[in-house]
Amino acid sequence: MAQSEGQVPQSGETRSSARKPTSRTTRKVARPIPGSEAGVVGMGLMGTSIAACLLGAGHRVTCVESDPGKLRSAPRRLLAILQDASSKKLFSASPLSLMKRASISGDLASLVRAEIVVESTVEDLAVKREVIRGVEEVVSSKALIGSNTSAIPVTDLQQGAKHPERILGLHWAEPANITRFMEIICGGATSMANAKRAVRFACSWGKEPSLLRKDIRGFITNRIMYAMLREAFYLVENGYATVADVDRSLRNDLGYWITFAGPFRFMDLTGIPAYAAVMKDLLSDLNCSSEVPALMQEVIKSGARGVSNAKGFYRYTPAQAKRWEKLFIDFSHEIRRLAEKYPEDAGDAKIAKTQR
Ligand SMILES: NC(=O)c1ccc[n+]([C@@H]2O[C@H](COP(=O)([O-])OP(=O)(O)OC[C@H]3O[C@@H](n4cnc5c(N)ncnc54)[C@H](O)[C@@H]3O)[C@@H](O)[C@H]2O)c1
Repeated sequence: MAQSEGQVPQSGETRSSARKPTSRTTRKVARPIPGSEAGVVGMGLMGTSIAACLLGAGHRVTCVESDPGKLRSAPRRLLAILQDASSKKLFSASPLSLMKRASISGDLASLVRAEIVVESTVEDLAVKREVIRGVEEVVSSKALIGSNTSAIPVTDLQQGAKHPERILGLHWAEPANITRFMEIICGGATSMANAKRAVRFACSWGKEPSLLRKDIRGFITNRIMYAMLREAFYLVENGYATVADVDRSLRNDLGYWITFAGPFRFMDLTGIPAYAAVMKDLLSDLNCSSEVPALMQEVIKSGARGVSNAKGFYRYTPAQAKRWEKLFIDFSHEIRRLAEKYPEDAGDAKIAKTQR
């Protein structure tokens, strides 16, 4: 079984009673025992970068994909990610040697030896449930099954499972082999022992995980991001600002501090009472619609999928779309390096040093 020295998160020094991982614990990265096996189901955008992360962390990785075209292209796409990560020194093994530790098939039965399986198929409850049931048929009763759902409650994924206590949410961020983000979400039936095992796995993958001890739709980041997206659409649809104006403001304000601080640290840094004063008048003015924004529906109806088909909220030539994709990967590497330079307890470490 994959073991790690990564510790289970201890209580952070916040006013909240919720336990959170500290960077002191999460930076102590442990590698899975060489040869320990992990599985990924769904070799789309995220599943491929998740498989690259697991390979880079030392697992043997079995990947399953149901679409024949995606199955054929998966080795090429996986190798490209490993080559990019290797050129940025994310791991020392050669991409080709890591590829030898990967197997890719269309059959869930190949997951039989996996100690942890990451489901990363489409965001559809019925599909995910069916995949999880299929995985349960082949893996051992102790294997962890983590779903990379963006917002489906984990409790819904556990319904009808043989061993719901080992099913949890494992929410990654793209590009999954570069970002340090991971939310581990307990469904109603997840055992805390299994949640802690998942935290240890996440630490061994170089993540800084947050543990959600209770299930909630959207988890942490998506609840907050979708509140932001709703307001962004409101401003554009009602003529207050253009798409580019909204993007520019957020990049230069929130984008400037969020990797350093997070919202609560940021309020500490900039003075808490001012936020309370603003909330008093602003909160009732914010958009609370439960409809998918009309502009979003219109853009999707036009066939836009984003840079993947060079059609989005902005216009792209195919060359520009490719360039944006590449720049996003380059930026992800740079922001990771910057985040590592300023870990979440950076200020505490300095205080401790000067006090010594
Ligand atoms: N794209 C993101 O940035 C992002 C971020 C966080 C979480 N997620 C979540 O990750 C999951 C995957 O997202 P994505 O963007 O990679 O989607 P995607 O469409 O690129 O990939 C999904 C893959 O799953 C495959 N698939 C579907 N049914 C399958 C089955 N029964 N067995 C095996 N393979 C199957 C599809 O063929 C496809 O290759 C979704 O739940 C999504 O909400 C995505």
